[in-house]
Parts: sequence; structure tokens; C-alpha cells
Amino acid sequence: MKESNYAKRRKKLLQQMSDGVGVVAAARLQTRSNDTEYPYRQASNFYYLSGFTEDNAALVFVRRKKERRVLLFVQPKNEAMELWTGVRLGVEAAKARFDVDEVHSIEAFDTVVKELLKDQDNLYYDLFDDDPLYARTRELCRGLLHDRSCKRSPRTFADIAQIVQGMRLVKEQEEIALIRKALAITKEAHHRAMALAEPGMMEYALQAEFEYTFKKHGAYSDAYTTIVAGGNHANTLHYISNDDTLKAGELVLIDAGSEYGLYASDITRTFPVGGSFTKAQRELYEMVLEVQLKVIDAIRPGITKTALQEQSERWLTEGMLRLGILKGEVDALMEAKAHKRYFPHGIGHWLGLDVHDPCPYADGKGDDTVFAPGMVLTVEPGIYIRADDKKAPKKYRGIGIRIEDDILVTKKGCENLSLGIAKTVEEIEAACRGGV
Ligand code: GLY
Ligand code: MN
Ligand code: MN
Repeated sequence: MKESNYAKRRKKLLQQMSDGVGVVAAARLQTRSNDTEYPYRQASNFYYLSGFTEDNAALVFVRRKKERRVLLFVQPKNEAMELWTGVRLGVEAAKARFDVDEVHSIEAFDTVVKELLKDQDNLYYDLFDDDPLYARTRELCRGLLHDRSCKRSPRTFADIAQIVQGMRLVKEQEEIALIRKALAITKEAHHRAMALAEPGMMEYALQAEFEYTFKKHGAYSDAYTTIVAGGNHANTLHYISNDDTLKAGELVLIDAGSEYGLYASDITRTFPVGGSFTKAQRELYEMVLEVQLKVIDAIRPGITKTALQEQSERWLTEGMLRLGILKGEVDALMEAKAHKRYFPHGIGHWLGLDVHDPCPYADGKGDDTVFAPGMVLTVEPGIYIRADDKKAPKKYRGIGIRIEDDILVTKKGCENLSLGIAKTVEEIEAACRGGV
């Protein structure tokens, strides 16, 4: 992505702040155990504003009357450390690469930021992130309470994450291109899984095929832990142990998406382990698919997620009545929220740098976010009927189905970014035969 995109975002952030100092920290390396660490993944808000993928860094925003300044703090060059963990950009190269007003060593953070905080009223940082850099910045404010060299210091703390996440709601062309790339890789992986799955295979073996395909194409890996849920495991929404055997006659639900250039994809497909749907599986699958297509069709500028949720609940309720899973009258069942037994989750969520992109679903007054071109969300209706559910028709027990696509809101309606991943019964059965 062009460097200037990040600079534009920083400018926009400064416009949305009041006078004060804002701090956005890079992600920390996370310990896995003892002295080994998880693979590093940059914090989404920091990345959105910088495009920088090193740890031990921070952006600082200063706004004071007409003054607007952006400072970047990076870890300094250190030959001994670089021998072990790789080349660091360092302060001098960062000055050349980033269009910011100043670059400093992260080691100078306290000294530099303390001066910036003097005679300011507001400090913006991520209020709900426990990164030690934020605690340190608050400590700097505390120290200034008794510092005679300034008359005032920040006593009003505001959430900078909320501003950045608001900016992240409408995606730019470059961001959509990265989601498309992530989806192209994800598509290949899902088709590969459909072709490879067979009775007797372990769920984790299929998971490994996803990771292989993702990494082979330069994706970071998965955007969230892959779910490979054979049979009744599909009724555990976040089943990630993936340690059972796939069985003939059962379905397997796979929820997996690659992360490419830090952008997520999020796709669920449910298909027969042996390659052919049984009659009961097909009935349930086609009902969920019909609802998914209708929800996608309803997406356009002006609609809200609440409206989509209500609509999908109604359509699923009608579908379950048709199949004899629920009994009664639609309005009464809706009133009683009867669908929740079989469709307990949301119809979708924002997608972007995070799989559950933390962009606002409502404005400051509590009014729903109204869809506009450039927003990206998932549509993922599901029906989950546990094997021990005595109320549901016997033929449906032990079946869990979810169908999930990633949708871009456009001027005229929407575009299914994941179009082309086998989804109808015929397409899936063909993909299971290796035919796509
Ligand atoms: N993969 C998580 C979700 O579908 O929300
Ligand atoms: Mn999802
Ligand atoms: Mn998903």
C-alpha cells in the first residue's frame, strides 16, 4: 500500500482529536512459554496508521491550537540483537521511510512524551488495552501533577481506538484488494479440503492442508484458528480442538480464512465427508443456503445489521417450520425467540484487519450504523441441531451447518467477494470429486 495512505489516515485522526496528545502502541511480542514467542502480528490500529510491522514501536499525535505533529518511536539498531531476531529498521531509515514529523528511539519515549504532555488537557490512548506503554504514559501524566515546570497536564483520558476503529469502517480500494487476495487463497484451500476429505481422516489433517495452502501463497497464516468440525462437533460453535476422525455419512463444517497483508478473510463451508449429501443433510443445507442468499440480496446502502439480523431470524424460523424443526406460528415463534435454540449467533460482523473488525455497529447516540459503500461484512447463517436434541426430528439430529461469505457494500447494492467458492449442493459435490 502507498505510504501516503497511512499519512492521510494519520492526518484524519488528528482532525478527529481535540487538542491533546494521542498514543497508539505497536503490539508486543507474546511469550508462548519460557523464552519462546508466538509469531509476531502487528496491532491492527497501529498498522492501519503506519504500515509498520516491527514491535517495540509507537505513534504519538500532538494537537495544540494550530500545531499538528506526528512522532514515530522505533526500536534502535542493535547489531547483537539483530543477529538473533533479524534486521531492525532503526531511527535513521525510519526517517527516510515514514512521512512523519519526527522519529525517535523508543528508548526516548518517556523523555520526549513527558514534554509533549505539559500544558495539555487531554490524553488519547487505547483505554481498554493493557499494553504497558499506555500505563507508562498515564504515569507520565501523574508525574506532571506535581511538576512545577507546567501549569496543567492531561486529566481527561479518551479512547483513541474508538476513533481509529471508526475510520476503519469504510475500506479503501487498497484494503479491499488485500481482502480479495486473502479470499483467493482461502478459496483454493476450501476447494482443496473438499477434494481431500475422506472417511477416516483426522480433522487436524484437514486443518494442516489449510495452513499449507495459506502459507504457500504468502499469507501470514490463518486469520483465526481454523475450525474443522466433523458431524456433531459442528454444533460447538468455536470447536478448535480438531482432533476427531471424519466419518462417512457425516458432514464436516470448516470455518477457515487466510490473513493476507494483515487483512482477514472468513469463510465457512459445510460439506459431506463422503462427497454426497444425504436427503436430510441436503434439506437442511438448502434451507440455510436459501436464507444466506436472501440476506446477501438484501444488503445495500441504507440497511442496518439489526435489520439483517431480524430478517434472517424470520427466514430461518420459516425454514425450520417448513422442515418440522419448530412448530407453531411464525410471529409467536419470533416473539419467543424460538430460533435461538438452533441459530444462537449473529448473522455477521465487520471484516477487515481483524476477522471481527471492531468497527462501530452504532453511533454515539446508539443509532445503528447505516450501511454505506466500502463497508465489508460477513453473512453467516447457521442451523445447529445437537445429536442429543430430543425435540428436533430424528433425521436432523447431529447436523450443524453454517455457510459464510464476505460481502462488500457497493453503491448499487453489494458484491460477494467470495463468489466462486463452491456453495450449492451441486458445486460442493463436484468440488468433493475434485472437480473445481
Ligand atoms: N470465524 C469466526 C466467525 O465466523 O465469526
Ligand atoms: Mn465470521
Ligand atoms: Mn467464520
